[in-house]
Amino acid sequence: MVLLAPALSAISALVASAQEWQGDLIRGRAVVVGAGEDGLRTACFSCHGTDGVGDSSGAFPRLTGQGAFYLYKQLRDYAAGARENPIMGPIAKLLTDAEMQDVAAFYAAQEAGYLVRPRDVDGQLLQRGAALSAVGSPEQGIPACVNCHGEAGTGMPPSFPYLAGQYANYTRITLEDWQQGRRHNDAQGVMADIAKKMTAEDVRGTAIYFESVRPEG
Ligand code: HEC
Ligand code: HEC
Repeated sequence: MVLLAPALSAISALVASAQEWQGDLIRGRAVVVGAGEDGLRTACFSCHGTDGVGDSSGAFPRLTGQGAFYLYKQLRDYAAGARENPIMGPIAKLLTDAEMQDVAAFYAAQEAGYLVRPRDVDGQLLQRGAALSAVGSPEQGIPACVNCHGEAGTGMPPSFPYLAGQYANYTRITLEDWQQGRRHNDAQGVMADIAKKMTAEDVRGTAIYFESVRPEG
């Protein structure tokens, strides 16, 4: 695990700052429903829902119960352009730092069921995803996803998001963003490095595999 050491030390610096704040759930909910003070905020619920599940299209990532610090960091990264996205960039720029903390804490505290598991998935791709998740690919220099994303991809807060139960469409898009340099917000480029070693089949395989995993088993 040559990859791990520098990434982990950069991440532990972030973790130290993660412990310095705690979001306010009531103010967070106000941001979600668009009740910001000056009416400038975009109501998050119109795309992500009030529980963070989004809709069944998979166009919006599941935010429900995701690590609060991870969510907060993404909002900062969208605002700063370290994660380039034409929808979330302008929305994040309108939020104050306190609002980012509050709304992150709010979505992190939500619980909600999962949409029906996708059917008709390609069995071979699914198997490829399961193998990359559990053991990686020594030939391609890809570490096992579970090393950082926790058992079965259920996440290791504060810094490592869950992948289990995330929409395949979103997971694929964000891995492609890393491959193509639109997402460059990861400590030491650890995910960019991994994504660039993945083939298109690896990306699709891990995306459909993690969509099919449920934290409850
Ligand atoms: C118009 C639809 C829309 C609205 C409104 C919206 N989002 Fe998003 N959000 C998206 C899309 C699309 C993505 C995925 C972007 C990408 O691929 O980077 C996203 C991604 C995110 C992510 C990254 C999740 C992850 O797993 O990395 C966070 C956090 C987020 N949104 C929070 C918010 C918050 C907070 C608000 C309200 C202030 C909000 N969004 C409003 C569409 C929206
Ligand atoms: C060395 C640690 C490490 C390993 C191994 C790792 N990841 Fe990650 N991953 C991270 C970190 C850190 C982040 C959060 C980056 C950020 O702050 O935006 C992340 C984020 C992600 C995201 C974004 C989730 C979201 O909600 O936007 C995806 C998708 C992802 N990883 C997929 C994978 C896959 C697939 C594998 C295995 C092939 C893998 N990761 C292996 C460290 C790792």
